Parts: sequence; structure tokens; C-alpha cells
Amino acid sequence: MRNPIIVALDVESADEARNLVDRLGDSVSIYKVGMELYAAAGMAFVQELINRRLDVFLDLKFYDIGETVKRAVVQVARSGVRFLTVHGSGAVMKAAVEGRGSSNLQLLAVTVLTSYDEQDLADLGYKCSVADLVALRVRKAMEAGIDGIVCSPLEAATVRQLAGPRAVLITPGVRSAHAAKGDQKRVATPREALDAGANYIVVGRQITRSPDPRSEALRILDELA
Ligand code: C5P
Repeated sequence: MRNPIIVALDVESADEARNLVDRLGDSVSIYKVGMELYAAAGMAFVQELINRRLDVFLDLKFYDIGETVKRAVVQVARSGVRFLTVHGSGAVMKAAVEGRGSSNLQLLAVTVLTSYDEQDLADLGYKCSVADLVALRVRKAMEAGIDGIVCSPLEAATVRQLAGPRAVLITPGVRSAHAAKGDQKRVATPREALDAGANYIVVGRQITRSPDPRSEALRILDELA
């Protein structure tokens, strides 16, 4: 079985992140670098992970005018990052696909932030439901040539149907049955996420706040085996 765990390095310094990566050893080979760690340690730390032959999921959710997105994606593609998130709006996705060119970078669209509800969409002037907007954006993402979608495990089955078998589906919001949920309200277990069609699961605190991160990662792999 391919290891589907992506660990979210939601920590405040390169030192702390490095310590986690060291402790996890060969139990994990893909790491998500989000805004916090990126703001603290930047591409220098991303490059350090890549130099250690680890894969990086850069979760910066790009959203800007097309030219700016395209040029930024060119830089990310050159760095050797494996996955990059962009917002699922048409012009942004088109520009990102141009920037990726023929590189190995895989682009993931964020459809609708899971913190948004119908009222938030109404405030933005959208007159449709969250589910309708997710469906529209998944279709547009696939038409634009985006490689995959970041979604909740609870919507993974629907997204899989819309996106087709080749799309890469990555789901955060995953917790084993024994683990604390933290501030996540709508969670699924790793097994449920994969059964619903996810290719990879993003796990943060269940692993990173565990007294023994490596055992926790191995325990999840065991649950999945
Ligand atoms: O600690 P936990 O497993 O909840 O971490 C989840 C990670 O996934 C965090 O980096 C968070 O930003 C990200 N994420 C999420 N829910 C989403 C999208 C991303 O929790 N809908």
C-alpha cells in the first residue's frame, strides 16, 4: 500500500518542524507547509525538505490576478514542490495551469473553504448553496486542467464522482476514532476518507501533538492496512 499520510507542519519555526520530521523518520514522506510555517521559514525550509527527498505540499491557496498567479506558480514549479493549492476560481486556475507548464508540480483547487456556510456565500453575493458552488468549481477545475481537489472527507465521494477517477483527492479533517477532534467539527476517520475516494489524507494535530508522533503515524497506517 502506498503511504497516504500527509502531515501538516502547523508549527511556528523551522526548528520545531525539523524536530517533527526527524522524529517521524520513514513513517511519513509528504509534508504540508501552510501559511504559518511559510511565513516563519519560507522557501528555504521547503527546499530543505525537498533536499531530504521528502515531498512538499505547499498550502498557500494562491488567489490574485492571472499574471501574478502564473509567475508565482512558475517559481513554485521550479522549486520541486509536489503539490500546490490555488483557489478554485476560473481565472486563477487557468493562470496556475499556464505557470505549471510541463513541470511535475500538481495543482490542487480549493473549492469552497469548509469554514464557509450558506450565509457567508450570501454575504459575498453568491445566490447558490455551498454544495452547488463546490460542484461548479470541481467541474471548472477539471476543465482548466487542475490535477486535484482539496475537500472534506464528507464531500469526497461526491467530488470523486464529479472529478473522475484520475483526479487527486486530498482530505484534511481526518481523525482516528480514538483521537481528540480539536476544533474540527466535521471529521471522518482515515479509513472512511479513503473509502470515500480520497487518495491522501492530511493529518495535523493527531500526529504533531502526540507525545510519540512516529507511533501515532504507524498506528494510522495500521488502521488502514
Ligand atoms: O490538526 P488538524 O489535523 O486539524 O490539521 C488540519 C490541517 O488541514 C490544517 O493545516 C488545516 O489548515 C488544514 N485544513 C483543514 N480543513 C480544511 C482545509 C484545510 O483542517 N477544510
